[in-house]
Amino acid sequence: MFTYDSDHVIAGVEKLRFFPQTAVSGAGATIVDADGRAVLDFSADWTAAGFGHGNPRIAAAVHEALVAGGPASVLSVAHPWATRLAEALLGLIPTLGADRRVYLGHAGTDANDIAVRGARHLTGRRGLIAFEAGYHGGAGSSQAFSGVHVATGVPADPDTVFVPYPSAFRPFRGDASTVGQESLELVADAMAGGDIAAVIVEPLQSDGGLVVPPEGFLAGLRALCDRHGCLLIIDEVKVGLGRTGRLLAHDHDGVRADIVTLGKALGGGLPLAATVGPAAALDEPAASALMTTVGNAASCAAALEVVALLREGHLTANAAARGTQLVEGLRAVASSGAAGADWIADVRGRGLSVGVELLDPSRADGGFGDATDVVTAKVAYRAWQLGLACYPVRGNVLELTPWLGVTADEIGRGIALIGRALADVVEGAVLDADIAGFSGWADAREE
Ligand SMILES: Cc1ncc(COP(=O)(O)O)c(C=O)c1O
Repeated sequence: MFTYDSDHVIAGVEKLRFFPQTAVSGAGATIVDADGRAVLDFSADWTAAGFGHGNPRIAAAVHEALVAGGPASVLSVAHPWATRLAEALLGLIPTLGADRRVYLGHAGTDANDIAVRGARHLTGRRGLIAFEAGYHGGAGSSQAFSGVHVATGVPADPDTVFVPYPSAFRPFRGDASTVGQESLELVADAMAGGDIAAVIVEPLQSDGGLVVPPEGFLAGLRALCDRHGCLLIIDEVKVGLGRTGRLLAHDHDGVRADIVTLGKALGGGLPLAATVGPAAALDEPAASALMTTVGNAASCAAALEVVALLREGHLTANAAARGTQLVEGLRAVASSGAAGADWIADVRGRGLSVGVELLDPSRADGGFGDATDVVTAKVAYRAWQLGLACYPVRGNVLELTPWLGVTADEIGRGIALIGRALADVVEGAVLDADIAGFSGWADAREE
């Protein structure tokens, strides 16, 4: 068995450790660790491997771009990979307005930075509305306007108003039927001040606990933005590109954004992000966003293949079908009466963005907090021991985001492994000491 020794903790490169996972190769939903053990991956590297580990079509496209000598940068040369990708994204991603541009970046972090900067430039206003427990990036301004403060030392953006995101399972005020309206009223209050450039919102809050907003919430934001001359920025970095069973997660809500940001799976496993929006926001000022390797041919070639896969449609359709199977299967576990099953307080999501919220069934208040977070961490740890990789978010929610081509058999196996991990944990199979070295988000999160 692989042991997790200092040789494997290379200069602390792992930032969020939930269990001692290594990976030396992979295919589809499978990762193979340093000892040759196959693990079923229900994270897909936080969705960045959303088009599968080792996707042969993406690998071939990248190889072709590299051997052709495709440029490493788009800063000072135009090249067909970047141009074709920008055109493909303009064709694929609908946003409001006619004269539109694409910024190509490295990560969700810079895509969102550019989106907000562009909105401030276009409107001449500084203010931003973002959501509590939202996540838009791990560095700089994107971290500063994230509600989840993972990077200690980055202060919150002084021009951002944080509003509670409406959760039907855990309403911040009122009840499930009114929580969307309650949140919209706070947004309206913030806009009344007059200096708001934009609202940035996740169409399904991921790191905040897989929260699907109530029907009409995004449409309500759209209407408020229109009334107050603010831009609506929808962050599709984690849930976009087929994952929810539609091309974009906000397609479920029938709204259009002024600016859409993409990342993670867009690069098919390589670093790539994009911001799609009005030319007047993204073109000016010249040289406002310079990072040398943006728009490099290899990443663009990978993304062109991702776009081709999306246009074929089968992976998006599979995400919808497998997502339904996953949610129904987990709900069946919850009501099965098996050991540990009563810890499953909620199963929710869209397509293959699924969350399993665990709460202590012996406590009237659910025991939300550190003790429940420890149980959740133990379930993730036990699942990994049994051969399934998934991570907790927001303490007590298991995030399940397998790649879009996951099979029905793999979903069935994953459900069974989660059920078994829960049973094993309530029966004491994982000790506090077992997870002591794997603090996950806990050390990094500032409330
Ligand atoms: C919704 C959302 N936006 C932006 C980001 C930041 O993306 P990246 O880590 O690629 O910078 C993330 C990362 O988890 C995310 O979930």
